[in-house]
Amino acid sequence: MIRLQDRKLRNKHGGRRRSDNKELTGAPRSAHVKRTAQESFSPEAFILRRSMPWTDGAAGGLNFVAFGKSFDAFEAQLKRMVGAEDDITDALFKFTRPVTGSYFWCPPVAKGRLDLRALAF
Ligand code: HEM
Repeated sequence: MIRLQDRKLRNKHGGRRRSDNKELTGAPRSAHVKRTAQESFSPEAFILRRSMPWTDGAAGGLNFVAFGKSFDAFEAQLKRMVGAEDDITDALFKFTRPVTGSYFWCPPVAKGRLDLRALAF
């Protein structure tokens, strides 16, 4: 759930300028785009993000939605966001609150059919 906050603070903690999405030079190490910079992980932690804002009465927030070829990239990014590597917590948590989360597995398709071999024991 996202609480509204001073624009300067949101820019600083996100690491990008809200008006044009330009990455800020000199953003702190806790800035979200620094924490999650996908090419800075080893191996690189690329995901395809397709988040959706939501509202319910006066409440609102963001459903963070992303696709990946495995859970590894998510795990690596989330670990860094919570400061597990270096005790630096993602500054996004200064004005957002994680509420819940789920992982879903989409089976691949081979020759036009669902390939469920990964489920075989
Ligand atoms: C309330 C939750 C979140 C908000 C409001 C948020 C917001 C943002 C914003 C504004 C950007 C910069 C603009 C852009 O590149 O699209 C960004 C980048 C990014 N975020 Fe988030 N984000 C959230 C949660 C997450 C989570 C949970 C993850 C990872 C599991 C994540 C991963 C990323 C990545 C990978 C980037 C691009 C970094 C790069 O390679 O430049 N975000 N996010």
